[in-house]
Amino acid sequence: MPLHEPTAGSEWWRSGIIYQIYPRSFADHGGDGMGDLKGITNRLPKLKELGIDAVWLSPFYTSPQKDAGYDVSDYRDVDPLFGDLNDFDQMLERAHELGLRVMIDLVPNHSSDQHEWFQSALNSKPGSKERSYYHFKDGKGENGELPPNNWQSMFGGPAWTRVEDGQWYCHLFDSSQPDLNWENQVVRDEFEDILRFWLDRGVDGFRVDQPHAMAKAQGLPDHPYVAEAGAGFIEGRESPPMWFQDSVHEIFRSWRNILDSYPGDRAMCGEAYVLPLSFMALWVRPDEFHQTFNFRFLDAGWDQEKLISAINESFEAFDSVGAPSTWVLNNHDVIRHASRFGGDYGRATASDGIGPNNPQPDSLLGITLARASTLFMLGLPGASYLYQGEELGLPEHTTLEPEFRQDPTFFRTNGERVGRDGCRVPLPWEANGPSLGFGPTAASWLPQPAGYLELARDLQEKDDSSTLNLYKRALEIRKELKLGEGSFDWVSTGELLSYQNQNVIVVHNFGKDCALPAGRLVLSSDSEQGDLLRSNQTLWLEI
Ligand code: NOJ
Repeated sequence: MPLHEPTAGSEWWRSGIIYQIYPRSFADHGGDGMGDLKGITNRLPKLKELGIDAVWLSPFYTSPQKDAGYDVSDYRDVDPLFGDLNDFDQMLERAHELGLRVMIDLVPNHSSDQHEWFQSALNSKPGSKERSYYHFKDGKGENGELPPNNWQSMFGGPAWTRVEDGQWYCHLFDSSQPDLNWENQVVRDEFEDILRFWLDRGVDGFRVDQPHAMAKAQGLPDHPYVAEAGAGFIEGRESPPMWFQDSVHEIFRSWRNILDSYPGDRAMCGEAYVLPLSFMALWVRPDEFHQTFNFRFLDAGWDQEKLISAINESFEAFDSVGAPSTWVLNNHDVIRHASRFGGDYGRATASDGIGPNNPQPDSLLGITLARASTLFMLGLPGASYLYQGEELGLPEHTTLEPEFRQDPTFFRTNGERVGRDGCRVPLPWEANGPSLGFGPTAASWLPQPAGYLELARDLQEKDDSSTLNLYKRALEIRKELKLGEGSFDWVSTGELLSYQNQNVIVVHNFGKDCALPAGRLVLSSDSEQGDLLRSNQTLWLEI
């Protein structure tokens, strides 16, 4: 019996390719250097050509943009930076015409400090109804001058900020992102209504931000091992009071009911950083999320042992509850894989970025392994996430000067962690266009590195050996051979790491160049295929 049997259900989210659009950097229609919804609409046919099934849009809601839109001040409107609701509807209509599904980002753990609720909370007294939508508390110490507990922010520094009347509010991220109090029924009702607002407009689902943080332990006790874990947790130890609280599950059950009450296969993906995956499996039980991101796979990097165990653990955990495993190598929070695999940059999800003062990646090794790892991933059964620009083999911008930095991580750590701006640089569409075709003018909210010119999409379209064409072929073959719905079993776990899905063998060479394995060559991650299976190469072979 294979480690994973062919997928049972036929819903699209079990095997689909979901492409993440980061609206700020995808395509700028207005010419102000900031991507927008009209820009997305115009470029959607290019994504159809790529061969994806769905897009997920990072936040485009009204926001002061203190955390690039993950600080929402109005959940039912579009920020003027990106357009308006009419532009959203047109984008959705165009996507659906092209047969693409659209998932949008829902940010329920925290709002912006500019949200009307938080503003009224600030103008209301301690103990008021308005303050109960967030976590306001008195401080410790003689005059309440110390934070209520020892919690740290994920972006560095304490997770508490003091307001004028002396109370403190909790923010697991930036101080401009106060955490909502999910014990409060009004908060729950409000978000159910927000879900319906977007489902009524026709969205196909949601990617849910930080769901594992939404419920906090009663009384907000101290993090029991903050000195070792900082803002995070240590796998295998007790859950800290801000992560993975059991009471959170009833929220997702109620959301699942709402999604299920709409026609079509609407789906929710949780950005749940929950480990081990046997614990994560609780989040994708049949009445909760349809899928969650597989951070175990992302964090495995390109380490053979870690990959093997991540894949084994994934099938075991997700199959046990009938959920698909998802796979991912890139997103807007991690160093792009074409750079990450060109050096030793630690855990992918550490959000530390690469700056001009860090060791620079080996770009040839990086792109070789990026192409190889992508082919390895796209052969796996389950759903896969792609992040805009990876299909062009874009590297991280690793020499971005401090004056361009916008990520709060950079500011909250005094530049010690450069943060995530390097993976968020506007896309190069045309080698000859101003801002490389990102928009009609030269404006670009983050400068594009010189190396992006030769990676422009229009050049790659004409080059058979380009990374873009490798992605297109892989997605086409994946669909044709139904690999997404397929099965999985290891063939060898030595230096040649290979698995079988249907009648395709996917093999990656962690060792030295060697003879080609048996089978009809279907696809190779190297731009030229000789008589050997080269080191760091991945092949798809039909048997
Ligand atoms: C996860 C998002 O992916 C990240 O970009 C954001 O900063 C945090 N959640 C806070 O919303």
